[in-house]
Amino acid sequence: MIQKRSVAIVGTGNVGVAAAYALFNQRIASEIILVDLNKERAEGEAMDLMHGQLLVGNVKVRAGGYEDLKETQVVVVTAGVGQKSPDESRLELLNRNAEVFDSIISDLDKYAPQAILIIATNPVDILTYVSQKISSRAPKRIIGTGTLLDTARFRSLLGRYYDVDPRSVHAYILGEHGDSEVPIWSQANIGGKPILKNTLLGKPYDKDALNRIFEESKNAAYEIIKRKGFTNSAIGVVIARIVEGILKDEKSVIPITVYCDGQYDIEDVCMSLPASLGIEGIKHIMSPDLNTKEIKGLKKSAAILQQRLKGMDI
Ligand code: LAC
Repeated sequence: MIQKRSVAIVGTGNVGVAAAYALFNQRIASEIILVDLNKERAEGEAMDLMHGQLLVGNVKVRAGGYEDLKETQVVVVTAGVGQKSPDESRLELLNRNAEVFDSIISDLDKYAPQAILIIATNPVDILTYVSQKISSRAPKRIIGTGTLLDTARFRSLLGRYYDVDPRSVHAYILGEHGDSEVPIWSQANIGGKPILKNTLLGKPYDKDALNRIFEESKNAAYEIIKRKGFTNSAIGVVIARIVEGILKDEKSVIPITVYCDGQYDIEDVCMSLPASLGIEGIKHIMSPDLNTKEIKGLKKSAAILQQRLKGMDI
């Protein structure tokens, strides 16, 4: 791990603060700079975190501006509005959030051209694409949080169903981080035994139960928003996980939003595929062997995202 691990978070709303807390509490960063138009809120969040320093360790958190980011290795962008009701899809946030991205990405190009960007604002796949088009930095250095969160939800629910550690459930959700996301059942396994059509860990194969688990993963955000008004805790640890993979130059393979340049004949769109991640950003994008239905699902995700991009002035 490189010495000074400086991470900036642009946007100190619910998601930004959850990400800051995860980075702080796990000591993934040695320095966290909180940037927000509401400077007082950023200062207050920095002060609040710093009061836990005694118990966490030497992680410095401060409020700052873009001009403070010239040595930052990773910048997380969470600025923008979130879904305000269970009836609002992530795609419907585009117009409001795309407006703020022009200035944010331009400022980051000016003050932090060296940093890898992690986009968390929704619709994350489209805003990752927009950021790559606006920014002068290489697309491999602009990553979206994508379906790592959906995959985490999927694996935790499958782990609960099979009464096994979610880390031992190998299953991806790929494509759009949203309503068209795709469960990759053909590759899903526990202990090397495929989930499809097999009795596993004493559980007979139940297609309906497994499909309900996927639906619960896919719709989780709506159910959480219905209850608490927003989501932030899990996306916060997802962001911390991606930052960790970058700062430790792990070359871990995780499902994140990347620029598709021909995988499954899908081009010129950003959505989630398994990709290896390190200090230089995306190293390799993988194209797992998928069945016809899964490839069709990914192409549908891509078409929905490309349709939403049409008419945008980028
Ligand atoms: C969710 C938001 C981060 O799925 O899109 O919770």
